[in-house]
Parts: sequence; C-alpha cells; structure tokens
Amino acid sequence: MPKGSRKRVLVTGGAGFLGSHLCAALLKKNYEVLCLDNFFTGKKDNVLPLTSNPYFEVLRHDVTEPYSAEVDEIYNLACPASPVHYQFDPVQTVKTSVHGAINLLDLALRIKARVFQASTSEVYGDPEVHPQQETYWGKVNPIGVRACYDEGKRCAETLFFDFHRQYGLPIKVARIFNTYGPNMSPNDGRVVSNFIIQALKNEDITIFGDGSQTRSFCYVSDLIAGFTAVMENSGDATGPFNLGNPEEFTMLELAEKVITLANSKSRLVFLPLPADDPHRRKPDITLAQKTFQWTPKVKLEDGLKETIKYFMGLLS
Ligand SMILES: NC(=O)c1ccc[n+]([C@@H]2O[C@H](COP(=O)([O-])OP(=O)(O)OC[C@H]3O[C@@H](n4cnc5c(N)ncnc54)[C@H](O)[C@@H]3O)[C@@H](O)[C@H]2O)c1
Repeated sequence: MPKGSRKRVLVTGGAGFLGSHLCAALLKKNYEVLCLDNFFTGKKDNVLPLTSNPYFEVLRHDVTEPYSAEVDEIYNLACPASPVHYQFDPVQTVKTSVHGAINLLDLALRIKARVFQASTSEVYGDPEVHPQQETYWGKVNPIGVRACYDEGKRCAETLFFDFHRQYGLPIKVARIFNTYGPNMSPNDGRVVSNFIIQALKNEDITIFGDGSQTRSFCYVSDLIAGFTAVMENSGDATGPFNLGNPEEFTMLELAEKVITLANSKSRLVFLPLPADDPHRRKPDITLAQKTFQWTPKVKLEDGLKETIKYFMGLLS
C-alpha cells in the first residue's frame, strides 16, 4: 500500500447492530470502509449517518454468494444473531455462516487480507463450566432449534482455523458474549431490547423461567474496541478470544434496573423457559486482557441509559 494511503476494510453485516458501530469506529480510525449487507436484519438507518463520509460505501450483497473486492482487512459479521431471526430460515442461517465463511476466506486468501470472524459464546452451548474459557469445547445440541446458529458458527470457526493451518491465512476469531446498545433491533426478542421496550410502553416485562438465569452484558462501544484490538494485534495470536463483560446479572436484576432507569410502571410476568436456553453464561476474558490489554469499561447502568435513550427516540 502506498505510504499515506488509507487501509481498505470490508465489513460484512455492516448495516446490523454491531456492524454499524464497527463501520463508524473504523471510519474514525481513517479506514476506507466497504459495508456489505443483504439487509435481512440490518437497516439502512443504522448506517445513514455514515453515508456523508466519502470513504464509506454500502453494497447490497448476500455472503452466501462469492464477492470480490481489493481490501486489506475483512471483518465477517454477516449472520442474524437473535433466535427469532436465525430460526426464521434455519437453512439460510447455516448457509450464511458456512458458505459465507468459505466465500470470505477464499477472498481473503486470494487478495492476501487479514480476516476476522465474529463468532459467539453460543459455541459453548449450555456450558458445564463457569466462567467459560476459550479452551472449553462446549456442550451443544447438534439437532436442536438453536443448532443452525450454534453449529453454523462452530463450523465457521473450523473453516477459519483450517484455512489458517492449511494455507497460512492470517485469521482473528472473537467469541462475542451478549452485547447491547443503540441500533439494536427493537423486535428481535433479545432480552435487553425486550425489557426496555416493554418498560417504555409500561407493558408487562416477560421473564422466561424464574429469572434466576444469569447473563453478562457488554456495552457496544467496549465490544467494538475489543474487535479492533483483536484485528490490530500484529502478533500471530489467532484467538479465539472471548469478548464480553464478565459481570453477571440475573434476569430479575436486569428487569429491575430497566424498570428504575426507564421510570416505568411495568410489572414482571413469568413464562416457560425456551428449549436449550443456557442457564448461565459468563466470559473469562483473561486471554484478551493479557494479549492486548482490553477490558470493558462501561457500567451496566450507563449503557442502559444510552440504550433507553435510543429506544425512546425510536418509539417517539
Ligand atoms: N449482538 C450480540 O450480542 C452478538 C453475540 C454473539 C455474536 N454476535 C455476532 O455478531 C455478528 C453481528 O451481530 P448483530 O448483533 O450485529 O446482529 P444483526 O442481526 O444486527 O447483524 C447481522 C447483519 O448481518 C446481515 N446479514 C445476515 N445474513 C446475511 C447474509 N447472508 N449476507 C449478508 N448479510 C447478512 C444482516 O442483515 C445484519 O445487518 C453476528 O455474526 C452475530 O452472530 C453478536
């Protein structure tokens, strides 16, 4: 690359929740950003504020079809992330993860680009160890209703590591734990957006099970800082790296915080737990902390306030 010119980066799934924040962060770092999306769950509104930047382009394309561009780096985020969306067309979900990974890895190999995979804590399934370290192989039901996502992402990781071993392709893999923030889809059934919307409408807050199951919630700006730290790490470290916030909250605690911060009159109602819903999920982020000194900074209350503000804007 000639001295002084901008690095070019391809972000698949760039119009989604995380992708739109990643595109914004990369533009701030002076990258030229190519955002590719089929708009299954992504929204043009998410990237609208970026379109005035001459170094930003948006393309409608499905990663299950090959795509070609001259870029220095690829971030592969394309994949519906919430059960309502990934279970809508499970075969397409598997294809997105698996064919998408093959197409992007082939591209990366041909153009000699470094490639990042947005993997997930779902590769651990319903874990038997807490917190989960990257060395844990997981407990996934391969034929359950979540398998299209969990096994699709596991197979994508396999492909990333096989391309790395077989062809020496530079890869970076991050396993993302629950993340929340502005640009989340209001209707994807994820717990933070669900609770906030129900609270803002003063509707009953639906808790699956007895509310004692725990999750850890990472604010989006912390996660995106983790993505770029993983990618920019010049060493051979491929990961997988757990990225998330290790602080654990029960669903009951989360619901109560949301009700208070949204100044809501909502009441709690309890529904049966969906199939294969993990009881606990908490990342061990020691590896990411040691390798590139990354650690999440945003407190749940502060992140919830920003997210509530975003959803108030959507509902008004
Ligand atoms: N948000 C989280 O908490 C979380 C947790 C774990 C993993 N992840 C992973 O991070 C990535 C982004 O998740 P998100 O929360 O932003 O979800 P999202 O649904 O908002 O974004 C996914 C994006 O990918 C696009 N997409 C889906 N299928 C595609 C295809 N075949 N071709 C092109 N584009 C396609 C969607 O239109 C959307 O813009 C996903 O790969 C997801 O698995 C997210």
